[in-house]
Amino acid sequence: MKKNELSELLKKMSIKEKVGQLFQPIGFAMMDDPAITGPLLESFKMRQEDVNICGTVLGMAGAKNARKIQQDFIDQHPHKIPLIFMLDVINGFRTIYPIPLAQAASFSPELAEECARMAAREAAASGVHVTFSPMVDLVRDARWGRVMESTGEDVWLSSQFAAAVTKGYQGEDIAAADKLGACVKHFAGYGAPVAGRDYNTVQLTERTLREYYLPAYKAAIDAGAALVMTSFNTIDDIPATGNKKLMRDILREEMRFDGVLISDFNAIGELVNHGLAADLAEAARMACEAGVDIDMMSSAYINNLEKLIEDKVVDESLLDESVMRVLELKNKLGLFENPFKGADEKLESELILCDEHRALARQAAEKSFVLLKNEGQILPLSEDEKIAFVGPYVDNKNILGAWSIMGKAEDAISVQEAAERILSGWDISINQGSPLLDADVKLEGFRGHEDEVYEQAAIDKMLEEAVTAARTADKVVLFLGEHVLQSGEATSRGQLDLPHVQLELLQAVAEVNTNIVVVLFNGRPLDLRMVQAKSAAILEVWMPGVEGGTAIVNTLTGQNEPVGRLPMTFPYSVGQVPIHYDTYSTGRPHRPGQDKDRFVSKYLDIPNKPLYPFGFGLSYTRFEYSEVVLDTDVIAVGSTITAAVRVTNIGDTDGTTLMQLYIHDVAASVARPVKQLKDTQHVRLAKGETQEISFQITEEMLRFNTADGRFDSEAGQFEVYIGDSSETENVATFRLEK
Ligand code: NOJ
Repeated sequence: MKKNELSELLKKMSIKEKVGQLFQPIGFAMMDDPAITGPLLESFKMRQEDVNICGTVLGMAGAKNARKIQQDFIDQHPHKIPLIFMLDVINGFRTIYPIPLAQAASFSPELAEECARMAAREAAASGVHVTFSPMVDLVRDARWGRVMESTGEDVWLSSQFAAAVTKGYQGEDIAAADKLGACVKHFAGYGAPVAGRDYNTVQLTERTLREYYLPAYKAAIDAGAALVMTSFNTIDDIPATGNKKLMRDILREEMRFDGVLISDFNAIGELVNHGLAADLAEAARMACEAGVDIDMMSSAYINNLEKLIEDKVVDESLLDESVMRVLELKNKLGLFENPFKGADEKLESELILCDEHRALARQAAEKSFVLLKNEGQILPLSEDEKIAFVGPYVDNKNILGAWSIMGKAEDAISVQEAAERILSGWDISINQGSPLLDADVKLEGFRGHEDEVYEQAAIDKMLEEAVTAARTADKVVLFLGEHVLQSGEATSRGQLDLPHVQLELLQAVAEVNTNIVVVLFNGRPLDLRMVQAKSAAILEVWMPGVEGGTAIVNTLTGQNEPVGRLPMTFPYSVGQVPIHYDTYSTGRPHRPGQDKDRFVSKYLDIPNKPLYPFGFGLSYTRFEYSEVVLDTDVIAVGSTITAAVRVTNIGDTDGTTLMQLYIHDVAASVARPVKQLKDTQHVRLAKGETQEISFQITEEMLRFNTADGRFDSEAGQFEVYIGDSSETENVATFRLEK
């Protein structure tokens, strides 16, 4: 449709019909088997007459359903306006890839882009038009369960992933049959709730918000994201969903976002709970004035906007502005020409879990694993050893992550299944060893979740069998982790350790065999002190997706090399969080090793260093790298410095490492982080091979939010670090002259 046709359409609509375009009910209003999310399902009551004029639908998929619902809807709609079907396609649609945090561990935005492209293909064939992804909230606090949906703590890395994933979903043209509109979320600062408690207040200075939290949203917007979702939290004490400054001044004016702004689930209604609005009518007015176009699942708009406009409390031009944006999105998606878009039953069944998508899921999982420890090169395993596979994750298919809403555990390949297929002829025993959860823990999922409950006698027996197997094995591989429902939305934790019943298993096994490899399934950094102390090797596999089992077995046996690196710091203990590598020096910096200095910035009872730092991960081989060499030590606007190191593979096998470039502004108008990641490069080297790798440093990389409110660089001295984790001390210095 042409712009003027959209305007004509808008003119023909009544106020009520226009408000309908901004009303987003949940799919169950229209179908039998909806994907349901959110807290209001029981209490939410929708009127059929409102549903009949709604503009978009939440949580719907299935080509057959989508086509029928769309056709029936258009037939009865006074202006024949099609619906947009929106769904949380997060780490895949039905073929589930590793969780976003795991994808970030690959440090390969291109890989995440490919996962998004394949997810879009499946979802679009299934009738979905828009996905609520990517989530680009910066995270520094592992107590917050949604860190699993993020790409970690680093502003540069998150921005790379934000842009790549957006492009993956959208391609060049969201009207294409196999593309989705991307909705970047949650604007803004949702990843920084006080004390890691979900939905909690966010307290960020404007500088911190701009410097660290906003860039990833901006990267997604610059990459063309069609929608933005508001966040549940407050920003400067004003809930984001009613925050005019945030939405109108920053998002629309500064960031130049001209797409659709949708509230999070009932976030407009929650303006009342926040204590900003007295009732839903006031909430509707505030959200509308802030520029929120679509009201997801609160009745605030549909029940109040018409009257607010008739009473001249809200200007009709605000409604028109929002409705026009929704119509424009429908137009960009090509729905006026083809309201069914990619929905195609035959293609849907061909694409879902097809070999190509499964192969990508396996590759993505393999690239996301992080080897945290490998003492005495206990890994990879070899065929001539007697090995005991033990633990609640050996035969567990709940490895898709909490947001795999259309995913089915039965699609996943467990470790046991993969081992039986790939390792025939190996001497491997299999024992569960312990339940996954402590007896007193009950978890609730979106659709309810039943975990097996064990009698104490059964637990004792499991443990005994596992210990017996461990006693006679050369090596024990313990598959431990968080329950899939312990990470994700509304899963804040005050302790970050593994379930105690699993730690007891670890302890019991360690008493009879010290050759322990721990394979960890989890959605967030955990307190791994005991795991580190009792094991010889640790392989972090996150929630690895449908091909998890195969990818894990391939990695344990050396068919795949672990190349992942931590996208989030693993704290020493929960007392260190929030923690992130790009911290400030303070006026009294603690120097590692000088723990007796009293009046410096440090803990008395725990180390200052995390257990495993950002950017860390081992390979099956070892690497050495030279000092940093610069081609010049002066940079100016428009010029570059080449910073190089020589990397050598000094181990016994070919392998890949990730070289990381960090910069530190030594003296500036505001305190600057001790290091900030600016670039990375994967380097693959044959055994014994040396390669020079170089990075280009530009003046743009040195810019920040200055004391006088500019985004600019300042002349002076800088340090450049090149190394294999954020703890590298491999440094050279240069000057910026302006
Ligand atoms: C609430 C979550 O915060 C958001 O991320 C999600 O997209 C919506 N529910 C819709 O399911």
